[in-house]
Amino acid sequence: MLRASLTSFAKGARTALAAFALLGLAAVLVPSDVRAQSINPTASAVTEEQLLQALQPGGEIAGRVSIPDQKATGLIKPGGQDWRAFHQGTMLWITAIALLGMLAIVVAFYAVRGKITIDSGMSGLKILRFNSFERFVHWLTAGSFLILALTGLNLVLGRYVLIPLFGPEAFAAATQWGKYAHNYLAWPFMAGLVFMLAVWIKDNIPDRTDVAWLKAGGGLLKKGVHPDAKKFNAGQKGIFWSVILGGAALSVTGVLLLFPYLAGGYADWQLVQIIHGIVAAVLVAIMVGHIYIGSVGMQGAFDAMGSGEVDFNWAKEHHSLWAEEARRKQGGASAGTPGARPAPQPAE
Ligand code: HEM
Repeated sequence: MLRASLTSFAKGARTALAAFALLGLAAVLVPSDVRAQSINPTASAVTEEQLLQALQPGGEIAGRVSIPDQKATGLIKPGGQDWRAFHQGTMLWITAIALLGMLAIVVAFYAVRGKITIDSGMSGLKILRFNSFERFVHWLTAGSFLILALTGLNLVLGRYVLIPLFGPEAFAAATQWGKYAHNYLAWPFMAGLVFMLAVWIKDNIPDRTDVAWLKAGGGLLKKGVHPDAKKFNAGQKGIFWSVILGGAALSVTGVLLLFPYLAGGYADWQLVQIIHGIVAAVLVAIMVGHIYIGSVGMQGAFDAMGSGEVDFNWAKEHHSLWAEEARRKQGGASAGTPGARPAPQPAE
């Protein structure tokens, strides 16, 4: 009897000892917060409904961080998925349609109208159109814009166009350098915008001559039609204000993207980036048209931004009111065209 009692006591003691040992081991292995949770009678579990609510647009599933920046707690943001779908879908299409659409318009215009030539032929007499500071401002803005445009387009279209051509490694390296160029060239572009506004705003205020110019289709559609224009015609004023206002929108949104904490939270960053992308796509398309007319599309136009001097007949046909005024202001006389001087003869 006594023996049986002793045996059962020893069994009980062994079980109790094993239980204590297990508890001790658990105390060492289980992290303190789980232990605390498991014994916290007021701890509440996340319900399925709460979880589904947090997965709605505008919701967020957040964790905990030990750094002061509470923005770092985000784990799942359904808004981020909508943004990614926009960036890789709608944004891509807007950019491709704007760019290819404008290229198609330019090609069709060239096919139908051909190069716009000087109807009265070259006079051989030159007149100063843009001084060296105006040309510097133009090329500062244009040069930085072109690189910003190419590196920006790469971020939207590059993976679809460049990876198949050059492979992922070359694309990744080029994109990284492109990103640096994009960040740093934004500053000369913004400086160019400010100078451009300062030197040309006085010549870009819309007035009555613009209405007549627009009614005549700018003379662009029909040979021999030359509506009056001052220093800039209505079409150029449109280009100027697109560059200034579009450039300002790109500058504000671009700076917010460079310094995101100025912009607010995730939803604001996404909105800012969408605006930046859409304005950029539209402005790039507009500039494709401008570059065409300023280079191969119109005889004699490039000289205005090249040497700064244009042929006097070009000036009379495209900027009649300005040509007269400039001729008076520039003074001098030469071969019946006061104010203009003969173009240098090409070397024999
Ligand atoms: C290779 C590219 C470019 C070429 C060949 C070019 C050519 C020209 C030419 C020839 C003019 C003077 C037109 C005239 O005498 O009436 C001009 C004006 C102007 N350019 Fe450009 N340009 C280029 C790029 C750009 C870019 C990228 C921008 C802006 C981001 C820009 C902004 C302007 C503005 C605002 C004017 C004055 C308004 C106007 O003429 O439309 N240009 N450009």
